[in-house]
Amino acid sequence: MSTWHKVCRLEEIPLRGSRVIPHGPVSIAVFRTSDDAVFALEDSCPHKAGPLSQGIVHGHRIACPLHGWNLELSSGIACAPDEGSTKTYEVRVDHGVVLIAL
Ligand code: FES
Repeated sequence: MSTWHKVCRLEEIPLRGSRVIPHGPVSIAVFRTSDDAVFALEDSCPHKAGPLSQGIVHGHRIACPLHGWNLELSSGIACAPDEGSTKTYEVRVDHGVVLIAL
């Protein structure tokens, strides 16, 4: 069963940017979109493990910095014609604090 953990304050994540947190052997990228929505994905592209945290946030999608695949931030699923997905994590903002379920 997962529990909520504090990541940081919302404003500590740049708009259309991310913050990376370690979680055991993996890294998780917590993204903030231009409309202040927050999403968390494993920081690894389903194509060739590119660091999604260094990609470009546009709308509620992330473009991988290596070869430009686009993933839906809410589901981690690659946009067609590409296929595959990255693990997502539940996040929420409570009184300006970003929380993640781990
Ligand atoms: S590693 Fe992400 S598009 Fe290739």
